Amino acid sequence: MRSHYCGELNASNISQEITLCGWVHRRRDHGGVIFLDVRDREGITQVVFDPDRADSFALADSVRNEYVIKLTGLVRARPEGTINPNMRTGEIEVLGTSLEILNAAQTPPFQLDEHQSVGEDIRLKNRFIDLRRPEIQQKMRFRSKVTSVLRRYLDDNGFLDIETPILTRATPEGARDYLVPSRTQQGSFFALPQSPQLFKQLLMVSGFDRYYQIAKCFRDEDLRADRQPEFTQVDIETSFMSEEQIMAMTEEMITNLFKELMNIDLGSFPRMPYSEAMETYGSDKPDLRIPLTLITVSDLMAEVDFKVFSGPATDPKGRVAALKVPGGNSLTRKQIDDYTKFVGIYGAKGLAYIKVNDKSNLEEGLQSPIVKFLPVEVRGALLERLDAQDGDLIFFGADSAKIVNEALGALRCKLGEDMDLYTCEWAPLWVVDFPMFEETSDGGITAIHHPFTAPSCSPEDLKANPLTALSQAYDMVLNGTELGGGSIRIHQASMQEVVFELLNISEEEQEEKFGFLLDALKFGAPPHGGLAFGLDRLVMLMTGSSSIRDVIAFPKTQSATCLLTQAPGEVSEKQLKELSIRVRKPVAE
Ligand code: AMO
Ligand code: AMP
Repeated sequence: MRSHYCGELNASNISQEITLCGWVHRRRDHGGVIFLDVRDREGITQVVFDPDRADSFALADSVRNEYVIKLTGLVRARPEGTINPNMRTGEIEVLGTSLEILNAAQTPPFQLDEHQSVGEDIRLKNRFIDLRRPEIQQKMRFRSKVTSVLRRYLDDNGFLDIETPILTRATPEGARDYLVPSRTQQGSFFALPQSPQLFKQLLMVSGFDRYYQIAKCFRDEDLRADRQPEFTQVDIETSFMSEEQIMAMTEEMITNLFKELMNIDLGSFPRMPYSEAMETYGSDKPDLRIPLTLITVSDLMAEVDFKVFSGPATDPKGRVAALKVPGGNSLTRKQIDDYTKFVGIYGAKGLAYIKVNDKSNLEEGLQSPIVKFLPVEVRGALLERLDAQDGDLIFFGADSAKIVNEALGALRCKLGEDMDLYTCEWAPLWVVDFPMFEETSDGGITAIHHPFTAPSCSPEDLKANPLTALSQAYDMVLNGTELGGGSIRIHQASMQEVVFELLNISEEEQEEKFGFLLDALKFGAPPHGGLAFGLDRLVMLMTGSSSIRDVIAFPKTQSATCLLTQAPGEVSEKQLKELSIRVRKPVAE
């Protein structure tokens, strides 16, 4: 129907007759002349209708915002003084000669340029309109380019794109499963995949050697800005490649992507052991753009007459750590109170601090609610360890190491953002040498990655020291976001059985849930490993979006619902009957 996209017209089209199709972005009546800004996915063109052509003029007068129109006209230079240098088509306009209304539109629930004032709920409910906004169109186009570049890299490197089932059995990645009832086997359920993990391993056993998939994954977990119940992974698996080779290849894939689409050189990624990340940044996904670090001071606090500090300082699972904020002395009481509330979210019971007013005066130069508990020698040793200067502020966390790390790790990022402490724009790294397991609150153990990750030690050593054993797992982190994670897998059934045993999965349960995997490992499984990137997170970071919802066409809300389709929804009695399901609604309180 069209000869050109609106957004692609420029001075080189002057004097051409063109036909455009698109939406009325804005209609203006300028003393007897009608201006229509017509929009399509490539941009906006200004079209002028004057009263000389009575038919089209009357029609142009009648259109309203978001009408779908087709028009023919002549491209001409804009008159002197009306050129708009901020618009791609700002040098030209189209003199409309004929106009056809392809479809009328009701008044939209919000104007595209007023989206900020309407709230996300209304935008998500009317997502088909929200998606018309040029900003979000750009993001969706960028996302499409990202998958295209990644596909090209993987295709060029011999990876095969193979689809894996959506109706399947539970794949443990640590979240709750979404279940789908079976009609043909009543009382049985499919689980939607939390990732294609087991299938991609089976594909290696089958000899495909290099697999990838842009795969939908489903996890019923607590949602945040960087988590959706349904999200997309760029999922990769390889055979006969070492941890080093897999990391080198996927690092190259990501650096090429940034170079090609954004002309950004990410450089080569530093490697950091998990233990160092936790100790220094309180996080296994440290944001290295922020120069603040956590420094352990447990040894200095072991003897002080302040239980809040001396308790965790002498508890093997405890930690007392300090976070020095250079120049932080200027923080007000109110700001410190707000930060105290903030760390409370992570379980911290308080946020002690010292303002260093005059470090040469250890008696009176330190301003703090806790300094009275610290002997002068401790004050001196503390300032020395932190290399504190006048004007600095020192925050403290004292609790179990887990709480201190989470609280001060999050505080570090918040201070970085609030005080704009960023030293660079992009800070990628690999976090390596993860432990295999961590303790759960009920004293059991759970896999840090997933139960198919290979340990760095023998099965005997793993059994002897499960909590200190390291795994062959690696995470790619960018600006404090975990972009992707993977590992070398267990490829021997005997080792897999040891891991299941340590995870307290009984033999019957192993057989019932993972019998097919254990079988596969017995029939010639090659050494294999891989990794999966969170595509949504990657695009979120590359487009500078604050939430992955902004880079997903039809995202769900924080409560895992789709406001547009009203999913999840009730189903008919007949459907439930076919599935032999009776719904027991929770009793109202
Ligand atoms: P993992 O669970 O670390 O590993 O997931 C890989 C990447 O997927 C992204 N991601 C998410 N993105 C949006 N919403 C979510 N709810 C969500 N959960 C995870 C993250 C994460 O780094 N099978 C393994 C990979 C492997 O071992 O090869 C796996 O799924 O960016
Ligand atoms: P309190 O003795 O409870 O009044 O606390 C004295 C100071 O220590 C206050 O500034 C508290 O915010 C801080 N504080 C209390 N508990 C902790 C903790 N677990 N970690 C760090 N600081 C704390």
